[in-house]
Amino acid sequence: MNIPIKTNEEIRKMRIAGSLAAEVLEMIQPYVIQDISTGELDSICHDYIVNKQHAIAACLGYCGFPKSVCISVNDVVCHGIPSSDKILQNGDIVNIDVTVLKDDYHADTSTMFIVGDSTTKAHHLCNITQTSLYHAIQLVRPGVRLQTLGHHIQKFVEKNGFSVVREYCGHGIGKSFHEAPQVLHYNANDRGVVLQPGMVFTIEPMVNVGSSRIRIMQDGWTVKTHDCSLSAQYEHTILVTQHGSEILTLRQNESVPLLEIND
Ligand code: MF3
Ligand code: CO
Ligand code: CO
Repeated sequence: MNIPIKTNEEIRKMRIAGSLAAEVLEMIQPYVIQDISTGELDSICHDYIVNKQHAIAACLGYCGFPKSVCISVNDVVCHGIPSSDKILQNGDIVNIDVTVLKDDYHADTSTMFIVGDSTTKAHHLCNITQTSLYHAIQLVRPGVRLQTLGHHIQKFVEKNGFSVVREYCGHGIGKSFHEAPQVLHYNANDRGVVLQPGMVFTIEPMVNVGSSRIRIMQDGWTVKTHDCSLSAQYEHTILVTQHGSEILTLRQNESVPLLEIND
């Protein structure tokens, strides 16, 4: 597996792509309310990326994906296709996944939005999923194996009674949307890649309330939980630095907690 090591010039461009992707999530937040359609949210994101950021919405047309961002509601795990028929309701949990391409480099990030008042369970699911991502990010530094990240995500999620989806993983990112390495969110006991400064990849755990099994809908894209239980996902694009990591897609209002890590 040939894992690209980014040059300083590439890192400079990826920081820009990263802040643009993060800004899309900040921009869309006030629109994610009851009675709006996911199709409308998609077109607001598209306009912003294309006309304000002068960037490219990398999902549009990627492997035939028909929209500019993925929007996955409730039991949709990932790759939800925005639609004017899908109207958000009070209590929905909504993932918006944005990938921008700017100056030949990609950045990929997603977060959850909770519409109105939702259940304690839904809040807890989102909280545990986001914390599992922060745990993994905190482990990133040169010399660490990707396997260690997967191990900690899985352990933390399962300790809290939820399950990790196996079929989709994080990925290297740069000139390509998806490149080496694969970043598994569970422990595959494969020893795995050893991190080096200049590697850039996403971490994007998908966590279900019930079983980890999924099914793909007839549209060929929408991934749902097999048992119709709720699912959450958070994603960041991460640079490995000399002594740790840098979150390239960090949002202005996002504070990353310092977590205690036990193995
Ligand atoms: N953004 C997704 C990821 O995290 C990929 C979406 S591919 C698309 O890797 F075609 F559905 F947009
Ligand atoms: Co990704
Ligand atoms: Co993504």
